[in-house]
Amino acid sequence: MSSRSTIPSAAVNHSPVVVFNDVRKTFAQQQVLRGLSFELQRGEISFIIGRSGEGKSVTIKHIIGVLHPDSGEIFVNGEKLTHAPETKWIEARRNMGLLFQDGALFDSMSVGENVAFPIREFEKLTPKELTQRVDSLLELVGLPGYGNAKVPDLSIGQRKRVGLARALALNPSILLYDEPTTGMDPLISELIDSLIIEMQQKIPGLSSVVISHDIQSVLRLADRIFFLHEGKMYATGRPVDFTTSTDPVIRQFITGSLHGPLGKPIA
Ligand SMILES: Nc1ncnc2c1ncn2[C@@H]1O[C@H](COP(=O)(O)OP(=O)(O)O)[C@@H](O)[C@H]1O
Ligand SMILES: [Mg+2]
Repeated sequence: MSSRSTIPSAAVNHSPVVVFNDVRKTFAQQQVLRGLSFELQRGEISFIIGRSGEGKSVTIKHIIGVLHPDSGEIFVNGEKLTHAPETKWIEARRNMGLLFQDGALFDSMSVGENVAFPIREFEKLTPKELTQRVDSLLELVGLPGYGNAKVPDLSIGQRKRVGLARALALNPSILLYDEPTTGMDPLISELIDSLIIEMQQKIPGLSSVVISHDIQSVLRLADRIFFLHEGKMYATGRPVDFTTSTDPVIRQFITGSLHGPLGKPIA
């Protein structure tokens, strides 16, 4: 268990994929990020956890650069993006895949067209190259031959897979999931969990960043957990560090207890 304040960055000998350094963000009067510092390691599955409204989605929005900090620094893939021109962010964003909760697919387009959408926007491929790329993405997510299928005909699990294929379309090195299982039945949640693991295994060097409320899946899947609390990284560590922690705040979060310093139900 550690917090960044106890690990000097000189002691980290591998390059982190995302670095936040004392990031602050206030909306109107509400201080959401209050000096947030953390490092996400390349090639790992990082879970960001914390109560509702703590700023988890805001944190992901800072990683993809749709929100910018009031102060502090953000580095992605070793590049400082704070105060960088929008063109730099666009470049950085091409390297990130984002999976939304509902998949956010276009119902009026075929599965293949949905997956092709970001590729058309960013790359100039011949129709044949595009079809090949889409086919291989659909194969990667376990939907070979689904290019002509209609979105409304798909199951929820299949939609998730198409969303994943689209998130992976530009070959990102960072894949971000914001509450991919929230509101899903246990079977779908399990399927998404296995997709997260599968993508991590199939794509060398991929860094996955997942926001989740499902503490069991966090403990099962995470290489490292980042616990956001009161606008700061309260604790970071391996799942075992969290399950064995004696810290009352962490204990309450892990057990989902109604009683403890957090003072109210967690989820
Ligand atoms: N664009 C915005 N404008 C104003 N307030 C926002 C904005 N985005 C998020 N917030 C506020 O910031 C807080 C953290 O939000 P969020 O990151 O979505 O929480 P969560 O940890 O549940 O994902 C919430 O109180 C939310 O209302
Ligand atoms: Mg959120």
